[in-house]
Amino acid sequence: DMDNFINELMQQMTLDEKIGQLNLVTGGDATTGAAVSTDVESKIKQGNIGGIFSMTSVARIRAAQELAVNHSRLKIPIIFGMDVIHGYKTIFPIPLGLAASWDMGLIQETARIAATEASADGLNWTFSPMVDISRDARWGRISEGSGEDTYLGSRIAEAMVHGYQGKDLAATNTLMACVKHFALYGAAEAGRDYNATDMSLHRMYNEYLPPYKAAIDAGAGSVMTSFNDINGVPATANKWLMTDVLRNQWGFDGFVVTDYTAVNELIDHGLGDLQEVSARSLKAGVEMDMVGEGFLTTLKKSVEEGKVSEADIDRACRLVLEAKYKLGLFDDPFRYCDEQRAKEEIGNPAHLAKAREAAGKSFVLLKNEDQLLPLKKHGTVAVIGPLANTGSNMPGTWSVSADLERTPSLLEGMQSALGNQVKLIHHLGSNLLDDAAYQERATLFGRTIPRDERPEAEILAEAVEVARQADVIVAALGESSEMSGESSSRTDIGIPAVQQRLLAELLKTGKPVVLVLFTGRPLTLTWEDKHVPAILNVWFGGTETGKAVADVLFGDVNPSGKLPATFPQHVGQVPLYYSHKNTGRPLADGQWFQKFRSNYLDVSNDPLYPFGYGLSYTTFAYGEPVLSADTLLRNGNLQVSVEVSNTGSYAGEEVVQLYIRDLVGSVTRPVKELKGFQKIQLAPGQSQQVAFDLTEEDLKFYNADLEHVAETGEFIVFVGTNSRDVQEKRFYLKD
Ligand code: IFM
Repeated sequence: DMDNFINELMQQMTLDEKIGQLNLVTGGDATTGAAVSTDVESKIKQGNIGGIFSMTSVARIRAAQELAVNHSRLKIPIIFGMDVIHGYKTIFPIPLGLAASWDMGLIQETARIAATEASADGLNWTFSPMVDISRDARWGRISEGSGEDTYLGSRIAEAMVHGYQGKDLAATNTLMACVKHFALYGAAEAGRDYNATDMSLHRMYNEYLPPYKAAIDAGAGSVMTSFNDINGVPATANKWLMTDVLRNQWGFDGFVVTDYTAVNELIDHGLGDLQEVSARSLKAGVEMDMVGEGFLTTLKKSVEEGKVSEADIDRACRLVLEAKYKLGLFDDPFRYCDEQRAKEEIGNPAHLAKAREAAGKSFVLLKNEDQLLPLKKHGTVAVIGPLANTGSNMPGTWSVSADLERTPSLLEGMQSALGNQVKLIHHLGSNLLDDAAYQERATLFGRTIPRDERPEAEILAEAVEVARQADVIVAALGESSEMSGESSSRTDIGIPAVQQRLLAELLKTGKPVVLVLFTGRPLTLTWEDKHVPAILNVWFGGTETGKAVADVLFGDVNPSGKLPATFPQHVGQVPLYYSHKNTGRPLADGQWFQKFRSNYLDVSNDPLYPFGYGLSYTTFAYGEPVLSADTLLRNGNLQVSVEVSNTGSYAGEEVVQLYIRDLVGSVTRPVKELKGFQKIQLAPGQSQQVAFDLTEEDLKFYNADLEHVAETGEFIVFVGTNSRDVQEKRFYLKD
């Protein structure tokens, strides 16, 4: 069995070979730090490499694996990783967009397809899911996670792990998942990437840690450390986090990998020199060192000097070998290398069809005045804006294996979906950003957005000319894909001013304007919400974005996405989230300013669009929620049911949401917490009874002593179409 096999193997291993297993190098296909790996081939032969990431194609992976299993002394196979974040070649919506589908089956399927494609190309390990809760839209990587909510984020974390890993890690179409970034990376101060986090244990346990734990409980095989420090100790050297919490409290038995050069970065965090920080990281409970080679170059010396023990190295080495064993690599190191499978499975039509469906389900209809949408399939539509005709921008951030050159743009995708039923005309309209240097920063990583250096007025005048020839204007505006994602924080989270000026000119034509909004984060859309009749948020929808946008704009698909993160009115409200505390001085209902109450002078506390919000082409009516009893006994259960009816004229999907509030507690409790949701489909005129079962488990939280408890007393249960528009009932939890 595994233990015997690994015991025997480890008996043959030298200290150098054991340390070699802890070394993860990059194959160079995606580089996100200053360092790159060198001499990879000779290091493989010397047994100095345990894993390689960002190396793609069966041919390259096979060649590297051959070096390991035919030319290294102990023939230990390599594990091959990659950032398969929202698809491999077939790209699905960015994770924040997928989260907006609130469709766990769909999310699991997208992860399954991503794993099928990546494993067909030789890979067996993905750096996903990214489950960092974020309530700060300034932080660019909010695009890579599931948004602000603990409960929704936890369900998605499970779905993704199940999708990637399937039932059997050794199956040739599964990948080992890696939960990241452990921990609290999404709480970086001021939304500035890599910044410090400082957080109470109370908030950590109740709000930020559960999605990581959910992914681990779902069986995720690995965990990645985060770059940030946590209450003064960087995650990558944080023994409390990696050992006390992860191993001892949660029982994690996989391995921990650092983020890119995160061990070396401990030097800049101020923890010591490379030898010192490498030893500290290993002893904290980190097993694999990404790119920086601090482990490779210093651990032996640290063993000799007694700074780490050989047992520390053995423990780490064993966990890495166990992962390889579970992946079936000792059995057949080439099990993931099958050119035929790669040809058949990567980007096949069924996967593309799923990508189109997933994109349509991720879009969120934010506004639709006078039922402007759906549009009729005839006449001329002007698709205007800097994001209208750029294919490389469609897949969204962290789509490193996407074929950017061959991804259709919005315009091309729409045209292929609509054929000659609708005439599409186009103009750039404006630059992405006023500032050329900013535009350059916002289009790194192979993304291109045409830039026109003529005076703005000239470009605008031309665009308006084109727009005047159309029956309807589709304004394709917002962020480029690289304006969110890693190292892409922003202080102004509005649509860039130059694009807003274009939008204002388009509105002045008097033609109906639909804003097709590209974004990787919640944006401030206060002006747009006031002036633009229809706004469809399409995030970054992946490979099939253009077709999916046509599906929704022209009514073949009824939008059903709901926001997984609050859209604020103003960036100064950030962090703004529905699940906030009441404070001792809350505003009275319906008020937006009261002196000596918790509020701002200039902007109300309300979001522009609340968490869970999203419109449909049809309308849904909610009956009054009914409780099976007014008391829930411990170990008992309480049913909350509500009748939901489709009162409009389109078939549609609705996400029925259930929230609770614990009215009295030993510690302050949020004003609302999501505890259940169901996505249902209703034909026009159809009604359905939707039932939720509440148990004591749903009422539990971590108290001041970090015990997970439910306290007796009165609760409110809310049911509704988003976190704001709900109906409420009360019940008691009793012993
Ligand atoms: O997986 C990523 C991580 O999210 C950010 N830094 C680099 C890693 C590997 O590419």
